[in-house]
Amino acid sequence: MDNFLIHGGHRLKGPVEISGSKNSSLPIMAACLMADGTTTLKGVPRLSDIDSMVTLLNELGCEVYRHDPPDNGDLPTLDGALDITAIDPTKCKARYEIVKTMRASICVLGPLLGRRKKAVVSIPGGCAIGDRPVDLHVRGLMKLGAEIHTDNGYIVGEVKSRLRGCRMFLGGAQGPTVLGTLNIMCAAALAEGETVLVGAACEPEVVDCANLLNSMGARITGHGTPEVYIEGVDSLSGCEHRVIPDRIECGTFMIAAAITNGELELKHCNLDHLVAVVDRLEEVGVHIEEADGTVYCSSDRRLNPVEMTTQPYPGFPTDLQAQLMALLCLADGISVVTERIFPDRFLHVGELNRMGARIRKEGATAVVQGVKQLQGATVMASDLRASAALVLAGLVARGTTRIDRVYHIDRGYEKIEQKLAAVGAQIERVNDRQPVQIVSAA
Ligand code: EPZ
Repeated sequence: MDNFLIHGGHRLKGPVEISGSKNSSLPIMAACLMADGTTTLKGVPRLSDIDSMVTLLNELGCEVYRHDPPDNGDLPTLDGALDITAIDPTKCKARYEIVKTMRASICVLGPLLGRRKKAVVSIPGGCAIGDRPVDLHVRGLMKLGAEIHTDNGYIVGEVKSRLRGCRMFLGGAQGPTVLGTLNIMCAAALAEGETVLVGAACEPEVVDCANLLNSMGARITGHGTPEVYIEGVDSLSGCEHRVIPDRIECGTFMIAAAITNGELELKHCNLDHLVAVVDRLEEVGVHIEEADGTVYCSSDRRLNPVEMTTQPYPGFPTDLQAQLMALLCLADGISVVTERIFPDRFLHVGELNRMGARIRKEGATAVVQGVKQLQGATVMASDLRASAALVLAGLVARGTTRIDRVYHIDRGYEKIEQKLAAVGAQIERVNDRQPVQIVSAA
């Protein structure tokens, strides 16, 4: 198993290329199941979750081909375009073995029912960030006319003639659902008549997928607002599409600049997708400017404490809560962080405290008392974003931090150690079997 060794205390300075969005790429790849012909996707990052989606699409009768990477100058090489062609429409099963490694496999459910009229998809279980039901996905698809039941841990769905558009409310107790909106939007794109989704998720990833579907021939409007209109069409055809930049990776590197008192130039970002994040970071004392798609990020040495609550887009994203908390560990005073999307998403708290942070959890809120310094320690990655928070803490901690189980990070950050090392971090990937010497923080 791979681990990271980080020798903290180095200011990061220089350019970083932000990859295409993981959370856009996954549903977009699933949507390719619905198109006749080949779809070419640009900017799909090389991540283990993307590899899992490729395996799933292969099992669902698709050919997937990766082109050679483009020349990226002095920056770490990112990956080439991905061609996806649906060849065998008889395959409809997403096996447990794949779904258990990647929960986002659920986003094949809508495309399969819309195009192939049959789907057998393993029910995703809970995960490290809490219970993650898919009841809203299933309810919405049933409103379109799919017959769905569960059988031995699988969602089994069938469409007798054709899905029929309707008006439906999609929100749940925690607000809108991102992958649920995507599943139902995909299925409705091939339904008969108009579907109106009220209470739809407004995330940029939903907009990106709607734009892809429209390029394939779908008729979707209102995406990016809570009310999405989908006029069903008879068929969709392959197209070319570039996925949006990864707003969570961009936010993570902004915090990396801030926590190391560094200066980073983040290439290929869309700051419009990060307005709430910029708002909170500026309050902390981070300077952020954008020119021609490059974000320039630096910070004052003194960091202010802030209050922050995660919310559906355009609010502060839950996927950056852990990383912001790592930064607030070093602020001059008490910060309050409340998690409204996944109330149990606090696995990083215990590990940050092992590095000298002073965080107290009270229900879905964490109270962070800033400290002068973090100390290197051996810590364990538990989920993707919690792991990113530990990397950020390691970058500034005194001494060496060893992060175990970094396969969680490989799910969502393309070449993170190469990107960080290229701007001055001392970080290396080592294997469990490799003997390592931990430098004491004392
Ligand atoms: C997406 O998950 C992202 N995953 C998550 O990113 C992200 O944290 C989440 O949206 C919220 O922004 C992908 O895009 C692959 P939801 P999703 O359905 O769509 C409840 C990361 O680190 N809910 O919007 O599965 C749910 O429990 C990850 O990259 C229901 O009650 O999240 C939660 O409280 C992890 N019933 C809330 O809605 C349902 O049927 C929002 O979840 C569905 C969801």
